[in-house]
Amino acid sequence: MSANITWHASSISKSERRLRNGHHSFVIWFTGLSGSGKSTLANAVAGRLFDDHLQSYVLDGDNIRFGLNKDLGFSERDRKENIRRIGEVAKLFVDSGSVVLTAFISPYKEDRRAVRELLKADEFIEIFVKCSIDECEKRDPKGLYQKARNGEIKAFTGINAPYEEPDKPEMIIDTEHFTIDQCVNQIIDYLKANKFI
Ligand code: PPS
Repeated sequence: MSANITWHASSISKSERRLRNGHHSFVIWFTGLSGSGKSTLANAVAGRLFDDHLQSYVLDGDNIRFGLNKDLGFSERDRKENIRRIGEVAKLFVDSGSVVLTAFISPYKEDRRAVRELLKADEFIEIFVKCSIDECEKRDPKGLYQKARNGEIKAFTGINAPYEEPDKPEMIIDTEHFTIDQCVNQIIDYLKANKFI
Protein backbone atom coordinates (compact mmCIF):
# COMPACT_ATOMS: atom_id res chain seq x y z
CA MET A 1 0.00 0.00 0.00
CA SER A 2 1.21 3.52 -0.72
CA ALA A 3 2.27 5.83 2.07
CA ASN A 4 0.50 9.13 2.82
CA ILE A 5 -3.00 8.04 1.91
CA THR A 6 -6.13 8.64 3.99
CA TRP A 7 -9.45 6.78 3.95
CA HIS A 8 -12.44 9.08 3.32
CA ALA A 9 -15.72 7.78 4.70
CA SER A 10 -18.74 8.09 2.42
CA SER A 11 -21.40 10.60 3.50
CA ILE A 12 -24.10 8.08 2.54
CA SER A 13 -23.99 4.77 4.37
CA LYS A 14 -24.54 1.35 2.90
CA SER A 15 -27.66 0.94 5.04
CA GLU A 16 -29.08 4.25 3.75
CA ARG A 17 -28.53 3.05 0.19
CA ARG A 18 -30.15 -0.27 1.01
CA LEU A 19 -33.13 1.48 2.56
CA ARG A 20 -33.55 3.66 -0.55
CA ASN A 21 -33.16 0.70 -2.92
CA GLY A 22 -35.49 -1.45 -0.86
CA HIS A 23 -33.19 -4.45 -0.83
CA HIS A 24 -30.06 -5.95 0.65
CA SER A 25 -26.77 -5.78 -1.32
CA PHE A 26 -24.48 -8.79 -1.63
CA VAL A 27 -22.29 -10.86 -3.92
CA ILE A 28 -23.29 -14.06 -5.66
CA TRP A 29 -19.94 -15.61 -6.54
CA PHE A 30 -20.20 -18.28 -9.24
CA THR A 31 -17.13 -20.52 -9.51
CA GLY A 32 -16.56 -23.47 -11.82
CA LEU A 33 -14.83 -24.79 -14.89
CA SER A 34 -14.86 -23.02 -18.24
CA GLY A 35 -18.11 -23.99 -19.95
CA SER A 36 -19.81 -25.04 -16.70
CA GLY A 37 -22.47 -22.33 -17.11
CA LYS A 38 -21.32 -19.57 -14.76
CA SER A 39 -22.04 -16.66 -17.10
CA THR A 40 -25.31 -18.13 -18.33
CA LEU A 41 -26.55 -18.57 -14.77
CA ALA A 42 -25.28 -15.19 -13.56
CA ASN A 43 -27.04 -13.40 -16.43
CA ALA A 44 -30.24 -15.40 -16.04
CA VAL A 45 -30.40 -14.72 -12.28
CA ALA A 46 -29.59 -11.04 -12.90
CA GLY A 47 -32.49 -10.94 -15.36
CA ARG A 48 -34.87 -12.30 -12.74
CA LEU A 49 -33.63 -9.76 -10.16
CA PHE A 50 -33.97 -6.94 -12.70
CA ASP A 51 -37.56 -7.98 -13.41
CA ASP A 52 -38.18 -7.72 -9.66
CA HIS A 53 -36.72 -4.17 -9.67
CA LEU A 54 -33.55 -5.06 -7.78
CA GLN A 55 -30.32 -3.28 -8.74
CA SER A 56 -27.92 -5.91 -9.97
CA TYR A 57 -24.84 -6.15 -12.12
CA VAL A 58 -22.86 -9.02 -13.64
CA LEU A 59 -19.07 -9.04 -13.59
CA ASP A 60 -17.94 -11.61 -16.11
CA GLY A 61 -14.48 -13.18 -16.58
CA ASP A 62 -14.12 -12.66 -20.31
CA ASN A 63 -15.55 -9.12 -20.22
CA ILE A 64 -13.41 -7.87 -17.35
CA ARG A 65 -10.33 -9.10 -19.17
CA PHE A 66 -11.15 -6.71 -22.04
CA GLY A 67 -10.79 -3.71 -19.75
CA LEU A 68 -9.92 -3.51 -16.07
CA ASN A 69 -7.84 -6.69 -16.18
CA LYS A 70 -6.51 -6.57 -19.72
CA ASP A 71 -2.97 -6.66 -18.37
CA LEU A 72 -3.54 -10.11 -16.83
CA GLY A 73 -3.08 -13.55 -18.34
CA PHE A 74 -3.71 -17.02 -16.95
CA SER A 75 -0.62 -17.76 -14.87
CA GLU A 76 -1.35 -18.62 -11.24
CA ARG A 77 -0.12 -15.20 -10.20
CA ASP A 78 -2.29 -13.36 -12.74
CA ARG A 79 -5.38 -15.38 -11.88
CA LYS A 80 -4.84 -14.48 -8.21
CA GLU A 81 -4.55 -10.80 -9.06
CA ASN A 82 -7.62 -11.09 -11.30
CA ILE A 83 -9.71 -12.42 -8.43
CA ARG A 84 -8.25 -9.97 -5.92
CA ARG A 85 -9.26 -7.01 -8.10
CA ILE A 86 -12.71 -8.44 -8.78
CA GLY A 87 -13.20 -8.96 -5.06
CA GLU A 88 -12.43 -5.30 -4.44
CA VAL A 89 -14.74 -4.20 -7.26
CA ALA A 90 -17.50 -6.48 -5.98
CA LYS A 91 -17.13 -4.90 -2.54
CA LEU A 92 -17.59 -1.44 -4.06
CA PHE A 93 -20.77 -2.63 -5.77
CA VAL A 94 -22.04 -3.96 -2.44
CA ASP A 95 -21.26 -0.59 -0.83
CA SER A 96 -23.20 1.09 -3.62
CA GLY A 97 -26.27 -1.00 -2.76
CA SER A 98 -26.21 -3.46 -5.66
CA VAL A 99 -26.47 -7.18 -5.95
CA VAL A 100 -23.36 -8.22 -7.83
CA LEU A 101 -23.09 -11.51 -9.66
CA THR A 102 -19.59 -12.64 -10.57
CA ALA A 103 -18.73 -15.30 -13.14
CA PHE A 104 -15.06 -16.19 -12.84
CA ILE A 105 -13.44 -19.61 -12.87
CA SER A 106 -11.66 -18.47 -9.68
CA PRO A 107 -9.82 -21.79 -9.47
CA TYR A 108 -8.04 -21.30 -6.13
CA LYS A 109 -9.80 -21.79 -2.78
CA GLU A 110 -7.46 -19.35 -1.12
CA ASP A 111 -8.43 -16.51 -3.50
CA ARG A 112 -12.14 -17.14 -3.05
CA ARG A 113 -11.64 -17.22 0.72
CA ALA A 114 -9.85 -13.87 0.56
CA VAL A 115 -12.83 -12.34 -1.28
CA ARG A 116 -15.23 -13.82 1.28
CA GLU A 117 -13.19 -12.15 4.01
CA LEU A 118 -13.51 -8.74 2.35
CA LEU A 119 -17.25 -8.94 2.91
CA LYS A 120 -19.63 -9.58 5.79
CA ALA A 121 -21.05 -13.08 6.34
CA ASP A 122 -24.43 -12.06 4.91
CA GLU A 123 -22.87 -10.41 1.85
CA PHE A 124 -21.23 -13.39 0.13
CA ILE A 125 -22.83 -16.43 -1.43
CA GLU A 126 -20.45 -18.85 -3.09
CA ILE A 127 -22.08 -21.02 -5.72
CA PHE A 128 -20.16 -23.96 -7.12
CA VAL A 129 -21.34 -24.46 -10.68
CA LYS A 130 -20.84 -28.20 -10.89
CA CYS A 131 -20.26 -29.82 -14.23
CA SER A 132 -17.83 -32.62 -15.07
CA ILE A 133 -14.81 -31.84 -17.17
CA ASP A 134 -16.09 -34.36 -19.74
CA GLU A 135 -19.36 -32.48 -20.13
CA CYS A 136 -17.61 -29.07 -20.25
CA GLU A 137 -15.30 -30.45 -22.91
CA LYS A 138 -18.26 -31.81 -24.85
CA ARG A 139 -19.97 -28.40 -24.71
CA ASP A 140 -16.75 -26.52 -25.55
CA PRO A 141 -18.71 -23.36 -26.48
CA LYS A 142 -15.61 -21.38 -27.44
CA GLY A 143 -13.50 -24.22 -28.82
CA LEU A 144 -10.95 -23.65 -26.06
CA TYR A 145 -10.83 -27.23 -24.77
CA GLN A 146 -10.00 -28.35 -28.30
CA LYS A 147 -7.24 -25.75 -28.46
CA ALA A 148 -5.92 -26.85 -25.06
CA ARG A 149 -5.90 -30.50 -26.16
CA ASN A 150 -4.00 -29.46 -29.30
CA GLY A 151 -1.41 -27.74 -27.12
CA GLU A 152 -2.38 -24.25 -28.34
CA ILE A 153 -3.29 -23.09 -24.79
CA LYS A 154 -0.77 -24.04 -22.20
CA ALA A 155 -2.44 -23.50 -18.82
CA PHE A 156 -6.07 -24.31 -19.44
CA THR A 157 -8.16 -24.94 -16.33
CA GLY A 158 -9.09 -28.60 -15.89
CA ILE A 159 -6.67 -29.76 -18.60
CA ASN A 160 -3.25 -28.51 -17.59
CA ALA A 161 -4.07 -26.00 -14.83
CA PRO A 162 -5.83 -26.78 -11.54
CA TYR A 163 -9.38 -26.16 -10.39
CA GLU A 164 -9.95 -26.47 -6.64
CA GLU A 165 -13.56 -27.31 -5.83
CA PRO A 166 -15.08 -25.43 -2.89
CA ASP A 167 -15.36 -27.40 0.37
CA LYS A 168 -18.35 -25.59 1.79
CA PRO A 169 -20.02 -23.37 -0.79
CA GLU A 170 -23.41 -21.94 0.11
CA MET A 171 -24.84 -23.75 -2.92
CA ILE A 172 -23.88 -26.41 -5.43
CA ILE A 173 -25.71 -26.04 -8.71
CA ASP A 174 -25.48 -29.01 -11.05
CA THR A 175 -25.76 -27.77 -14.64
CA GLU A 176 -25.02 -31.23 -16.01
CA HIS A 177 -28.24 -32.76 -14.73
CA PHE A 178 -30.60 -29.80 -14.41
CA THR A 179 -31.81 -27.28 -16.99
CA ILE A 180 -30.79 -23.63 -16.72
CA ASP A 181 -34.36 -22.73 -15.69
CA GLN A 182 -34.29 -25.30 -12.90
CA CYS A 183 -30.90 -24.04 -11.73
CA VAL A 184 -32.07 -20.41 -11.74
CA ASN A 185 -35.16 -21.39 -9.74
CA GLN A 186 -32.96 -23.17 -7.18
CA ILE A 187 -30.90 -19.99 -6.75
CA ILE A 188 -33.92 -17.68 -6.50
CA ASP A 189 -35.53 -20.04 -3.96
CA TYR A 190 -32.32 -19.99 -1.89
CA LEU A 191 -32.19 -16.18 -1.98
CA LYS A 192 -35.79 -15.96 -0.82
CA ALA A 193 -35.52 -18.70 1.83
CA ASN A 194 -32.45 -16.97 3.31
CA LYS A 195 -34.02 -13.50 3.14
CA PHE A 196 -31.46 -12.08 0.70
CA ILE A 197 -34.37 -10.93 -1.45
S1 PPS B 1 -9.69 -17.04 -13.73
O1 PPS B 1 -9.05 -18.37 -13.69
O2 PPS B 1 -10.76 -16.93 -12.73
O3 PPS B 1 -8.70 -15.96 -13.60
O4 PPS B 1 -10.35 -16.96 -15.19
P1 PPS B 1 -11.48 -15.93 -15.71
O5 PPS B 1 -11.08 -14.52 -15.47
O6 PPS B 1 -12.81 -16.37 -15.18
O7 PPS B 1 -11.44 -16.15 -17.27
C1 PPS B 1 -11.89 -17.37 -17.80
C2 PPS B 1 -12.27 -17.19 -19.27
O8 PPS B 1 -11.11 -16.94 -20.05
C3 PPS B 1 -11.06 -17.81 -21.18
N1 PPS B 1 -9.75 -18.46 -21.13
C4 PPS B 1 -9.30 -19.36 -20.22
N2 PPS B 1 -9.88 -20.01 -19.20
C5 PPS B 1 -9.12 -20.88 -18.47
N3 PPS B 1 -7.83 -21.14 -18.71
C6 PPS B 1 -7.20 -20.52 -19.74
N4 PPS B 1 -5.92 -20.76 -19.98
C7 PPS B 1 -7.95 -19.60 -20.54
N5 PPS B 1 -7.63 -18.83 -21.63
C8 PPS B 1 -8.73 -18.15 -21.96
C9 PPS B 1 -12.26 -18.67 -21.15
O9 PPS B 1 -13.13 -18.16 -22.14
C10 PPS B 1 -12.88 -18.48 -19.78
O10 PPS B 1 -14.28 -18.21 -19.84
P2 PPS B 1 -15.41 -19.17 -19.23
O11 PPS B 1 -16.63 -18.30 -19.23
O12 PPS B 1 -15.00 -19.58 -17.85
O13 PPS B 1 -15.52 -20.30 -20.19
